[in-house]
Amino acid sequence: MGHNAGQAQTYWWQQGVIYQIYPRSFKDSNGDGIGDLPGIIAKLDYLTWLGVDAIWLSPIYPSPMVDFGYDVSNFTDIDPVFGDLAAFDTLVAQAHQHDLKVIMDYVPNHTSDRHPWFIASRSARHNPKRDWYIWADPRPDGSPPNNWLASWGGSAWEWDAATQQYYLHSYHKAMPDLNWRNQDVKEAMFDVVRFWLDRGVDGLRIDSAQHIMKDPQLRDNPPNPNPNVTAHKPLGDYDSQLHLYDKGHPDIHAVYREFRQLLDIYSTSSPRVALGEMHIYDWPLWARYYGAQLDELHMPLNFGLVSVPWNAGAVRHLVDSVEAALPPGAWPNYVLGNHDEPRVATRIGQQQARVGMMLLLTLRGTPTLYYGDEIGMHNVDIPPLSIQDPSEKNLPGIGPGRDPERTPMQWDDSPHAGFCSSAVEPWLPIAPDYTQVNVAAQHADRHSMLSLAHALLQMRRATPALAVGSYTPIDGAPADCFVYVRRFENQRRLIALNLSGDEQQLQLPTMGSGRILISTHLDREGPVDLASLHLRSDEGCIIEVEDTL
Ligand code: NOJ
Ligand code: CA
Repeated sequence: MGHNAGQAQTYWWQQGVIYQIYPRSFKDSNGDGIGDLPGIIAKLDYLTWLGVDAIWLSPIYPSPMVDFGYDVSNFTDIDPVFGDLAAFDTLVAQAHQHDLKVIMDYVPNHTSDRHPWFIASRSARHNPKRDWYIWADPRPDGSPPNNWLASWGGSAWEWDAATQQYYLHSYHKAMPDLNWRNQDVKEAMFDVVRFWLDRGVDGLRIDSAQHIMKDPQLRDNPPNPNPNVTAHKPLGDYDSQLHLYDKGHPDIHAVYREFRQLLDIYSTSSPRVALGEMHIYDWPLWARYYGAQLDELHMPLNFGLVSVPWNAGAVRHLVDSVEAALPPGAWPNYVLGNHDEPRVATRIGQQQARVGMMLLLTLRGTPTLYYGDEIGMHNVDIPPLSIQDPSEKNLPGIGPGRDPERTPMQWDDSPHAGFCSSAVEPWLPIAPDYTQVNVAAQHADRHSMLSLAHALLQMRRATPALAVGSYTPIDGAPADCFVYVRRFENQRRLIALNLSGDEQQLQLPTMGSGRILISTHLDREGPVDLASLHLRSDEGCIIEVEDTL
């Protein structure tokens, strides 16, 4: 772990904390039960108070909403449900006044089937846009061109009777995949990048980033020899194959190098960032997306924490593996929750969610914090008739349904949790416990999850060792504890996390004495002898230690 030294000169996206907003669910301003841009603007003061540095918005482009915005029908406008370009410009301007950066979701792999490009493409084989998507002839028996599967069930190929070919869709059949091997597609999608960067956007989160380059020969994927072992979460038949050919073709790196060059031109005026969504859990393979010369993505997103078994050994192993895989100078990042995964409080429990928050905000690297996790929102049961998520509709019962983690933000104890007017039903049900679990109540409670998140964010911001310092794991702690030191110049912080419900006694005599700065229980501070450190169940502490090195 030689190259993880503290970094003196860092960009905002390295020191900062990114807060993910799922716009449909943050705050409704106009009484239709769906969150919108004016709603986000109204909550910028809250985000500044909370202490985050950037907001990433899940897609707000015009969309038929088959996949709630990931099916884009126009890349350079705003869906009326969220507002318009003027509202977007206001959001960017006001966010910047609040010292908040704005990151847009960028969806390069597919469009909606209602996008004019696809409508043209499917209209006739000789249409100039035909090759903008991936079309292929059937096999002699009429079946799809190869065995590729959509991640939400069934073949990845949809038959188009009018033009007698199949088109490829890695996800829903209403989301056809673009053909990035066509230079005009690449240029058009780079123009989309320019459009948003020109509007002042500070970064892009690239959706399905690994999918954009496939095997040009469309070879069959081989069977998965161990289909019961999924790296991430079960996806039914999709797990029966090794996804060697339907994504991640080596040519992808040249595309991201070019993409980065485009961003770098803009970064001369103010630094922009590219984050790539990729579910790769083979860390050396994942790390390749930083680029051999750190000339591709600033940060391929690291989803290790969303699927790691929640025990100290596994979490430390994950962090150490990620650190070891990073190329020199590459900046790590951690995701603990997002709009595709069960809520962290549901995955690991309310008590451990506090430990998880301390972990997320004290690891080396940029954290992304999912809206609502700061108040400990949990998955909400969705009655069958209220299900919205297309992945749940396609694969009922298998588990990837994502509505439970996308429910409206709980602002206060008024009807509909202050998310929308009481006269309208919110687009997804509100958590039944919202009268206790909400921002207003937790703001007033100095021991709440929100108070913890707030205190940790303030501390991270004020402490270079936490924001940009080096990471060193500490051996010799009890098996249920993950202990590490963050260090910058002569500032050292020891982080001791108890990932269990049992009390723990830690003996770290070589660390000398220290001062507890904060406990996840928010009830103790002060001197401590590290030869005998007691942690209560589900407790984590940040401890100031003398710099003895
Ligand atoms: C990943 C996004 O995070 C997810 O929500 C979406 O459904 C797929 N990509 C398809 O765009
Ligand atoms: Ca609305």
